[in-house]
Amino acid sequence: MDNNKNYAVTETKDVEAFFHGYAADFDSIYGHTKKRSVSDKFLDTYFRKSMRLRYDLVLKYTANTNIKTILDVGCGGGVYCEALLNMGKTVTGLDIAEGMLELTEIKTKKFVAEGKVNYVHSGYLEHEFTEKFDAAVLVGFFDYIKTPLEVFKKLETEITKELLMSFPKSGGFLGWQRKIRYNMRNCPLYYYSKKDLETLFSKIGWSGKVEIFDIERDFFVRVKF
Ligand SMILES: C[S@@+](CC[C@H](N)C(=O)[O-])C[C@H]1O[C@@H](n2cnc3c(N)ncnc32)[C@H](O)[C@@H]1O
Repeated sequence: MDNNKNYAVTETKDVEAFFHGYAADFDSIYGHTKKRSVSDKFLDTYFRKSMRLRYDLVLKYTANTNIKTILDVGCGGGVYCEALLNMGKTVTGLDIAEGMLELTEIKTKKFVAEGKVNYVHSGYLEHEFTEKFDAAVLVGFFDYIKTPLEVFKKLETEITKELLMSFPKSGGFLGWQRKIRYNMRNCPLYYYSKKDLETLFSKIGWSGKVEIFDIERDFFVRVKF
């Protein structure tokens, strides 16, 4: 029996359950919908600056007219899917949590008739695509991934031009506090130092293709194939 794999599968189920339950509240992080407690509002504000910076970087790089088809891995509430569709891209949103994918569907349903958007309800590593994409967006995704190298290996087979990814930084009191809050709800959380990222990119052979941006609470990474 592969214990390591079993452990990862259980973790994936925990992430799925956490985000399915979180869906109703999730959009408030972007400043919309439901009421938040004072402490949640404080943390939202703190993390929102990084969220804005990474959002701007994704839109800047995907504006390239060579990028026509985009896979949004861990699309969550669909903020990126919606923005990319509004830019004229063809987008596939994939998410493990049904409740989150439903939020994406609500935001983007007007693009279904034109065949511009597809939805996949699955864990990323568990889903086999038959097509390739020009680019992939993985924002706020690696926070929940125990085996990033496996994800990189799969991305290499599916993405032809560019990856745009965020990785939460290790260190800091609020990062530590966030980890406790998530762990109390059974959701694993992973942080990365710049050195961790460099080691991972060296292992996959991407060192010469990677740009790492230091943006507040995250590292934003662009990989050009
Ligand atoms: C913090 S949200 C980010 C959503 C969106 N990318 C954004 O930045 O607004 C992370 C999302 O990743 C999804 N997720 C986590 N692990 C996943 C996996 N292994 N496969 C697919 N989706 C996953 C969660 O369900 C959740 O919707």
